[in-house]
Amino acid sequence: MDPKLAKDLDTLPDLLDGVQRYAAQVLSDIADRPVATPPHERDPMPLPADGIGGAAALELFCDRWAPGFSGSAGPRYLGFVTGGSTPASIAGDWLTSAFDQNAVSRADSAAVDLEREVMDWLRELFGLTPEHRGVFVSGATMSNLVGLAIAREWVGEQLGVSVAQDGVAALGELPVLSGSPHSSIHKALSVLGLGRGSIRFVPTVADREAVDVDRLAAELAALDGRPAIVVANAGTVNTVDFDDLRAIAALRSRYPFWLHVDAAFGGFAALSPEHAHLVAGLAEADSVCVDLHKWLNVPYDSAVQFTRRRDLQVRVFQNAAAYLGMPTADPDPVHLAPESSRRLRALPAWFTLAAYGRRGHREIVERDVALARELGDRISAMPHLRLLAPVRLNVVCFTLRDNPSHERVDAVVRLVAESGAGFLTPTVYKGTPALRAAFSNWRTTSADVARIAEVLRAAAD
Ligand SMILES: Cc1ncc(COP(=O)(O)O)c(C=O)c1O
Repeated sequence: MDPKLAKDLDTLPDLLDGVQRYAAQVLSDIADRPVATPPHERDPMPLPADGIGGAAALELFCDRWAPGFSGSAGPRYLGFVTGGSTPASIAGDWLTSAFDQNAVSRADSAAVDLEREVMDWLRELFGLTPEHRGVFVSGATMSNLVGLAIAREWVGEQLGVSVAQDGVAALGELPVLSGSPHSSIHKALSVLGLGRGSIRFVPTVADREAVDVDRLAAELAALDGRPAIVVANAGTVNTVDFDDLRAIAALRSRYPFWLHVDAAFGGFAALSPEHAHLVAGLAEADSVCVDLHKWLNVPYDSAVQFTRRRDLQVRVFQNAAAYLGMPTADPDPVHLAPESSRRLRALPAWFTLAAYGRRGHREIVERDVALARELGDRISAMPHLRLLAPVRLNVVCFTLRDNPSHERVDAVVRLVAESGAGFLTPTVYKGTPALRAAFSNWRTTSADVARIAEVLRAAAD
């Protein structure tokens, strides 16, 4: 054995102790760390011929890389839609590495059964039906991809072909209808061979991102019985708008389509009685995407994919080999997801749900929503900023009152980031350059909102 490796084995508790102390320090200082750090060049480090051992590698990391890491796990990182990691989820994540299970089949470990337990909990949390079976994937992009792959197979079934067997050319044109699809839908359609061009944008309700259901019905009617995919949105990324899922689902009695719902973070509205109406009808979806590294506040990477048609999922993702085992009526994850070998992503989710339960996670969701409203109110009262949409859930979408050009919006984003006090991301909403502040971290408080608001006011002035 390499001598450095042998020494690390002998002193493993010390190495892990050192990492634990360092990580605890990072987390206790997270609110004071610069929220975003601009990129800067470093001299390249040649591949070490002889290593330096784990303890020295920790020192080197602390010196060379840690100062450049953002405070994205902290309370004022409001860019994209970014969750932190609850204490229990970090514990679960560390144990995921320590046990290093390959959550691929039930042949040798209870790991897959643990994943199933979490999946039952999540199904209940999001108000889905027992027919919705789920699998862990790396993020909402992958969850959308899996959902759309199953949808593609369903369309094939309607037309009497199997895409999994015969390829996408057997299908012909496959229209994908949506009001305000997330960019990951475009990516997934490209990967799946359906093409980015297969999206047919359905007009939205005036001044909103929610699809106009009558226009959707008209587009479906125009397909003249050809099966299609409808991607409904439960929480758009700019203004957190929600399609009327019930009304869309009801159209299935008239037109043949697969209903996929992208509920990447909007699905968490189900945890709050005040907001659960936004996702009414989610249980009627054929496939559902929910991200966990966003609002469940588990470490990257983690999301779930639910579907009612596990048989079609197996048709697409089966990885049948004598040594891996064939898919059964109760298939292992190796037959359900794009990956074969995979990390036990379920464990951090299991830990946080076991530690804080439905009540604890509801509190995070409701607090974040209240904080988003608070920032929205403060922005409305500022002379140089204006809201572009009502704060429906956890994202504030706003812009400069005068001349909101890309340059001026980017300058505000930059000033906020350079202040070290916060991080927001720019966007374009209905043609207007804008900013988004997304609340999904478990640590954020009213004091953080006050600080961000002050920095924003100064930047906009
Ligand atoms: C609605 C929606 N769908 C999909 C995604 C993609 O998520 P991920 O980056 O986890 O793949 C996002 C990310 O913000 C999102 O907001």
